[in-house]
Amino acid sequence: MSETAKLIIEDKTYELPVLTGPENEKAIDISRLRAMTGYVTLDKGFKNTGSTTSAITFLDGEKGILRYRGYPIEQLAEKAEFLEVAYLLIYGELPNKVEYANFKNHITHHTLIHEDMRVFLEAYPIKAHPMGILAASLSTISTFYPESQDPNRPKEAIDLTIYRLLAKVPTLAAWAYKNAVGQPVVYPKNKFDYCENFVNMMFDLPAYDYVPDPVVVNALNTLLILHADHEQNCSASTVRVVGSSQANLYASVSAGVSALWGPLHGGANQAVIEMLENIKNDGGNLDKWISKAKDKEDSFRLMGFGHRVYKNFDPRAKIIKKAADDVLNKLGIIDPVLDIAKQLEEVALNDSYFKERGLYPNVDFYSGIIYRALDIPTEMFTVMFALGRLPGWIAQWKEMVGENQPISRPRQIYTGSKERNFVEIDNR
Ligand code: SDX
Repeated sequence: MSETAKLIIEDKTYELPVLTGPENEKAIDISRLRAMTGYVTLDKGFKNTGSTTSAITFLDGEKGILRYRGYPIEQLAEKAEFLEVAYLLIYGELPNKVEYANFKNHITHHTLIHEDMRVFLEAYPIKAHPMGILAASLSTISTFYPESQDPNRPKEAIDLTIYRLLAKVPTLAAWAYKNAVGQPVVYPKNKFDYCENFVNMMFDLPAYDYVPDPVVVNALNTLLILHADHEQNCSASTVRVVGSSQANLYASVSAGVSALWGPLHGGANQAVIEMLENIKNDGGNLDKWISKAKDKEDSFRLMGFGHRVYKNFDPRAKIIKKAADDVLNKLGIIDPVLDIAKQLEEVALNDSYFKERGLYPNVDFYSGIIYRALDIPTEMFTVMFALGRLPGWIAQWKEMVGENQPISRPRQIYTGSKERNFVEIDNR
């Protein structure tokens, strides 16, 4: 006998099926609620609402657990290559040597972008935010591959789009940066692996004999893995909603980039560094800023703190905090904002306001300090988040499309005017 939940409305009892996942997560299936009762549910921000089942990522906010396809994030961050993790998220298993070699080979040979795309890049203003360029470029790229827009495309065509996206987004991201700093773009080189290629496209210059620093490349590999997926977060849900209309994968990922841009989501990593710089320039008075963060009349929030799911600690933040120390030591960098960040964390974690609300450092709190040490400019931080999250968005889209899920179309409760007749303008 499967478990059910009883709902009593106007003296009538309804039984709704209860779903229990392998990690013992429970959900009341309300798929037939309106047909049975005429009622819909209301849950602004979907704080209590599951939008789908998924086999990609499991996280436990209370225990600080994050696993990609069952593998703990701590092990993947320490032992895996980013493209291995991308393959795992998208295809469900870690690749063997032949599968991995083929996957990397496909991606290596799709890194170039059609030269006509450079016309678009050069049209942007010099200070154009690279997230705006990335979002627009992803939709634009879909017009160069019209076959990718066919909802009935075969599996091979979906794989080709996946290779193209994974291959071209680093090139697009690096070119957006070069455009922003007024430097000539650097073309991808097949001799480099994924992270090396990106670092080279970002920092090589015609006058240089630039060689990517292994410390920088390894730090990037770890950061991209830590950002690779996070179940039904704001941007992944956006990718699923857009893809549910049978929009192509480029357009769906472009929408995900736009959702990630917001400072409450991926844009927080840029906002954290700007916040830490403000606190430093303001004399480092931590109590003042902690008070502002707690003051309901003050719009200031402690950026990089708090999370919709993690109410103890974000396992990624713990790994990044340690990596920040390692990378800065290896590069011989002393960054005063790292000390401010650690002091801020210390003060906040001993403050009842933050403890009562389960507000702890999230993935964005320390990541910007590493990006800065890697010479990546602040406005590129959220692009780095997008680079990492790309395989997660692809995996979420592929799972949703593969299950033929219905178009996403939530209901509402109308609170506007009741019926009324049109009034001519002379009588208003
Ligand atoms: C990411 O979902 C994901 O998985 C996202 C992500 C991923 O990998 O995809 O993990 C990446 O987006 C991380 C979050 C990055 N954003 C920030 O760091 C921005 C600062 N954080 C907050 O804005 C906030 O914590 C959110 C947006 C992250 C979560 O907001 P919720 O879940 O809607 O919680 P809430 O806004 O309702 O806050 C609950 C309470 C409120 O106070 P009360 O009304 O109970 O008195 O906590 C307070 C909030 O005012 N609060 C904060 C705070 N975050 C929440 N107060 C001060 N500073 C903060 N940062």
